[in-house]
Amino acid sequence: MRITIGVTGGVAAYKAAELVRLLQQDGFTVEVVMTRGAREFITPLTFAALSGQKVITDLFEKSFSGGANVESAIEHIAVAQRSDLLLVAPATADILAKFARGMADDFLTTLYLATTAPVIVAPAMNVNMWNHPATQENIEMLRARGVKIVNPDEGYLACGMTGAGRLAGQQEIVAAVRQTLHTQKDFEGETMLITAGPTCEDLDPVRYLTNRSSGKMGYAVAEAAARRGAKVSLVSGPVNLETPSGVERFAVRTAEEMRHAVVDRLPESTIAIFAAAVADYRPAETQTKKMKRNREPLTIRFEPTPDILAEAAQTKGERLIVGFAAETELVVENARKKLAAKNADLIVANDVTAEGAGFDHDTNIVTLFSRDGRDLALPKLSKSAVAQRILDEVLRLRGVLRHKTESHRSAV
Ligand code: PMT
Repeated sequence: MRITIGVTGGVAAYKAAELVRLLQQDGFTVEVVMTRGAREFITPLTFAALSGQKVITDLFEKSFSGGANVESAIEHIAVAQRSDLLLVAPATADILAKFARGMADDFLTTLYLATTAPVIVAPAMNVNMWNHPATQENIEMLRARGVKIVNPDEGYLACGMTGAGRLAGQQEIVAAVRQTLHTQKDFEGETMLITAGPTCEDLDPVRYLTNRSSGKMGYAVAEAAARRGAKVSLVSGPVNLETPSGVERFAVRTAEEMRHAVVDRLPESTIAIFAAAVADYRPAETQTKKMKRNREPLTIRFEPTPDILAEAAQTKGERLIVGFAAETELVVENARKKLAAKNADLIVANDVTAEGAGFDHDTNIVTLFSRDGRDLALPKLSKSAVAQRILDEVLRLRGVLRHKTESHRSAV
């Protein structure tokens, strides 16, 4: 993921260098934009050396690239589009005012207007400037617009005064970035088993029965879980997707193979999420030779496949089990039935006939049905955003279920 750090002109500008390093350690690619004021306090070379990226310094002047100069007249649009997040640290009273009023007279202010990525500002200034009604009004205006504010700390300030105005601690700023990008390590210590994609059930050496699952939903969950610190095993049917970074993938083809892979990895997992579209039936017999065409109608006998999720949930202990429900009618009723029948803790139900939902789309529309009775209907979201919401619900539910178990134990 890519973060753009805007550095503005304050004594705390040097602290942005450490922020670049910390965010890189977290795996982010960091690009730095400096205002004219910032360059009075620290040189672009410092950031170019630390980030390994060119540092953008002005809208119309040539930008600094540690040797190569690049025209940047329309680059704010490109930077705006490639950034997953804009962080301004330190943010002066001046930049807060410009952001609040929509001024666009340098690279950073035009970038702010042009980006649709989340924005975080970490102000740093003199205590009176911070407390001034104009600054506070600007802060409120930005907050109301969805900008996240990392409030300054109190303490001794460079101007010799004491009070609020010191740039917040770097760890606090990094935590705000992680929280916004859902990269906080809140699944650290969890071992997650995830199924994804379709299964293929062979009729003969050249024909098989399958479904339209692309694996995108399950892979999005795997990627999000790994980013959030879980050790992830992904049992995947045949799909055309790259294995997300940090995820161990086990390729399977049939429902039976998927079942074996799940059974092998289940004991070590603390959370299991079943996003795969497993064939419910397979041919009772697989022919070893290609079936010959003839003029008679063909009848094939199918037998049910093992219900991998239901089997896993039978002996779940403290393991949290999440199932999906792919429905084409009576979504709520069917999802609730599946929650109970499969002994799951959470069911993610999608109406796969809805526009932009279900198979192969990059988006999904789901409702989360939890064991504690909470139903959460989500709007149409990208599959990666849906994955984050599923993981948030898993964490909430884990807290609720642990609390219940502890209360029960102390009552006995
Ligand atoms: O892969 P994509 O193209 O991104 O599409 C996403 C999706 C539509 C596949 C996904 O969102 C989804 O709904 N996955 C579940 C599909 C499915 O098989 O649903 P179901 O209602 O038939 O099954 C209920 C649950 O039981 C599922 O968690 C399924 O994994 C599990 N199951 C079903 C049959 C079986 N034999 N074993 C199982 O474990």
